[in-house]
Amino acid sequence: MILLGPPGVGKGTQGVLLADVHGLSRIVTGDLLRSARAEGTELGLEASRYMDAGELVPDDVMNAMVEECLESLPDDRGVVFDGFPRTVVQATALQGTLEGLGRSIEHVIVLEADNDVLVRRIAGRRSCPECGCVFNIYSTPPEQEGLCDRDQSPLVHRVDDEPDTVRRRLEVYHELTEPLIAFYEASDASVSYVPGDKAVEDVHSAVQSVILLMAPE
Ligand code: AP5
Repeated sequence: MILLGPPGVGKGTQGVLLADVHGLSRIVTGDLLRSARAEGTELGLEASRYMDAGELVPDDVMNAMVEECLESLPDDRGVVFDGFPRTVVQATALQGTLEGLGRSIEHVIVLEADNDVLVRRIAGRRSCPECGCVFNIYSTPPEQEGLCDRDQSPLVHRVDDEPDTVRRRLEVYHELTEPLIAFYEASDASVSYVPGDKAVEDVHSAVQSVILLMAPE
């Protein structure tokens, strides 16, 4: 299953819920890159330059990372992709890798929201650098201000969540990632559109409904 949509639309939030409900593995490329950066690996430091500018990390780097990750996952469990693919080159590579593993994309769920909703959500996002939990000072604040509910680590505002970088990330989404919707519309995968501007539970219910609707009899 692929979650597709602009920055801040709720791919991460919905991905966690979907993985819990359906027992899916998650591949979250933004988190993989942030972990590599936190570990100070060569890849992480190289990726930082692109991420902090709101640009995409090169396709060959991302394709190799996802292929390695997919091969390490149990093959009897579904996977939810969040943040990948982001270009037609990545989508084509993913299809090849999945075919090689005897797997395929079943659902593409496109989450949609207007820019003003996205910008406000991103401005309010606070993330735990330790466990990856995501909060929002406006909609889903932590119990104790500035601290993660799960492990009490100090929460951070992502470097790429600064307004200028967010603007660039939105441009990059429209230019390079949005064309994937047409790519998947032309494929065998089912493509569903879900409004992402409702409350978290309402978006989750809508996602669940489209998955149920598309399930084979
Ligand atoms: P990545 O980390 O993937 O960022 P993104 O796609 O821009 O998405 P976000 O994490 O900003 O948002 P989200 O949709 O997950 O929303 P969330 O659930 O957090 O990528 C970062 C960078 O890494 C890229 O710019 C690029 O440089 C690089 N990269 C990653 N993958 C790559 C790839 N494949 N190729 C090349 N480069 C790649 O929600 C946002 C906020 O809203 C949170 O605070 C949340 O609590 C809140 N919220 C969520 N849902 C709701 C709701 N329904 N109501 C109210 N608040 C809500």
